[in-house]
Amino acid sequence: MFRCPACGGLLEPVYSVEGSPRGRGVWRYADLLPRSRGPPVSMGEGSTPLVELPRASELAGCRVYAKLEGLNPTGSFKDRGMTVAVSIARGYGARATLAASTGNTAASMAAYSRRAGLKPVLLLPRRGVARGKLAQAIAHGAYIVEVEGSFDDAMEAALRAAELGEVYPLNSFNPYRLEGQKTIAFEVLEDLGEPPTHVVVPVGNSGNIAAIWKGFKEAPLLGLPPARPRMIGVQAEGAAPLAEAWARGLREPVAVEKPRTIASAIRIGRPVNWPKAMRAVNESRGAFIKVSDPEILNAMAVLAREEGILVEPASAAAYAGLLRARKMGLIGEDSLVVVVLTGTGLKDPDALSLLGSDTTRYTAGPQEAVEIVKAIVSR
Ligand SMILES: Cc1ncc(COP(=O)(O)O)c(C=O)c1O
Repeated sequence: MFRCPACGGLLEPVYSVEGSPRGRGVWRYADLLPRSRGPPVSMGEGSTPLVELPRASELAGCRVYAKLEGLNPTGSFKDRGMTVAVSIARGYGARATLAASTGNTAASMAAYSRRAGLKPVLLLPRRGVARGKLAQAIAHGAYIVEVEGSFDDAMEAALRAAELGEVYPLNSFNPYRLEGQKTIAFEVLEDLGEPPTHVVVPVGNSGNIAAIWKGFKEAPLLGLPPARPRMIGVQAEGAAPLAEAWARGLREPVAVEKPRTIASAIRIGRPVNWPKAMRAVNESRGAFIKVSDPEILNAMAVLAREEGILVEPASAAAYAGLLRARKMGLIGEDSLVVVVLTGTGLKDPDALSLLGSDTTRYTAGPQEAVEIVKAIVSR
């Protein structure tokens, strides 16, 4: 399913139409999205804020804007693709949907499937999903199979289960999902006012970076300004099949059998969309790079404390990647960079707790509390 019968490669829709943006959210770009039978299954996803990051810019030594994808209905960019793919699934008359997930896809597909009246079935890596994301999927009444092994093992099971033909697969090898995700590029072009020089994206299964690049290429069909930003894909050191390949000049990912990183959303060792992602980075003259877990936690702290933006580790990896890319000389000081902050931090309380510090927390009675406040403000 979703593979070319001749070469086995993943499918990709192409458009020979032109159109113009109308309305709000993902469906503002309906002229360049696949049509489904019936109205879309939507919750107002998309139209997320693009905000300047003054202090993070200072720290990076270039102009930085963030696309706040955590403000989508279920808290991540996945909703952009899910509104499109679930609409198609319902149009086909599917009764059940299926996905393997590191968490955000699970939350999103469960929510959108239920909204469409479909039965969501999830394959999740056991102990590999952040608590908040699992709680979301459970709250939406998803059927959950916890698979022993990594995300990649769950993905393999999902691919085999999809072949049964009884369920509609909603992983990002489903090209309709990537169609929805490409709208990030359209919004950036409409909101930034000038084309970005670089777009930095955290990379796991590597669909999103390919989707966003596709959006930049198609933007002129909607009357949007042409832009060819360099796409910088960021992976975590312990789960960096593409960054490793890039560093070694290889054409194919270096599979990671036991991917490890605090950034559970991108803890992926065998990315299914790698050919599309490699093409995006090559065509845009970008790069894949990797960052360590301490760099990710540092980026998370900077965004939370200096900018007031709470993101999960996978999203923070993008900003960590920007800092690293500046040091490597990959991104110059006169650049205009958009960092895609893919998901909210609220879903991963365990990661957030690593940012806390004993020196900022106290336990006290009411009287003593007043004294502590006095001491803090006079410091
Ligand atoms: C928060 C977050 N960031 C980044 C990614 C990576 O996206 P992709 O798998 O399309 O590379 C994911 C995927 O699960 C995610 O949930």
